[in-house]
Amino acid sequence: MNILETRDLHHNFGPLKVLFGVDLQVEQGERHAVIGPNGAGKTTLFNTITGTYVPTSGKVLFKGKDITGYPPHKLARIGIGRSFQITSTFTNLMAFQNIRLAILSKDGIRFNLFRRVDRMKRVTEETEEMLRRINLYEDRDTPVSALSYGKSRALEISMALATDPEMVLLDEFSAGMSKEETHDAVALIRKLTEGKTVVIIEHDMDVVFNLADRITVLHYGKILATGKPEDIRNNQDVKDAYLGDLEV
Ligand SMILES: Nc1ncnc2c1ncn2[C@@H]1O[C@H](COP(=O)(O)OP(=O)(O)OP(=O)(O)O)[C@@H](O)[C@H]1O
Ligand SMILES: [Mg+2]
Repeated sequence: MNILETRDLHHNFGPLKVLFGVDLQVEQGERHAVIGPNGAGKTTLFNTITGTYVPTSGKVLFKGKDITGYPPHKLARIGIGRSFQITSTFTNLMAFQNIRLAILSKDGIRFNLFRRVDRMKRVTEETEEMLRRINLYEDRDTPVSALSYGKSRALEISMALATDPEMVLLDEFSAGMSKEETHDAVALIRKLTEGKTVVIIEHDMDVVFNLADRITVLHYGKILATGKPEDIRNNQDVKDAYLGDLEV
């Protein structure tokens, strides 16, 4: 079953046409990588799925339901989390506060004053549990600005997963990481996303071919191919347009 689908998705920025009829299909429980050259429209695709932009036309379906244009807090509530290409932690807040904010974001306007004390206790427990899972418990009171780059990105990945979403979208989580940090981040993602659907945008082909069950190649705003890693590796169109340069 497809947990996520886009149907004939188009997006323009003024006269610039960025997405041209994208039909993305992500199966429940898979790890799906979206790859493609710089400027192909990968982040724009995520942004139209996760409510940063309302697509110019076309539909976004989550478990068969039309969620086109849903704002991020509504997506969190139905089980979708995401991280951003550009680091988006609150750098002057502590690690603990960042995760707590991410967990609280799911409550949105449902936040009920009368349940406040109980809820906050539970949120604190959930936050501490997440810090332990990502090996940042010792850093709970460290401002994010003082964490290493790898740790701050790990924190960010955990924020996307803090609301325990069914599906999470991660935009270039490994960008700027060292080989070792990338290796740790892949292990962390495997651990935190067990049983979940994961969609990643990724330039590092080691990560893509190591993590992804299926791959979609986006090229100039269109899907060039979708398939299993070995099919993508052997696809002549993909080699000509993209992978050929990367020698994978
Ligand atoms: N908010 C915006 N306003 C105008 N143009 C934009 C905007 N966001 C992206 N674009 C343009 O849309 C095109 C696709 O950008 P996008 O960021 O989606 O590409 P990408 O595949 O994520 O690239 P990268 O691999 O470099 O992250 C680019 O030409 C970019 O300049
Ligand atoms: Mg991008």
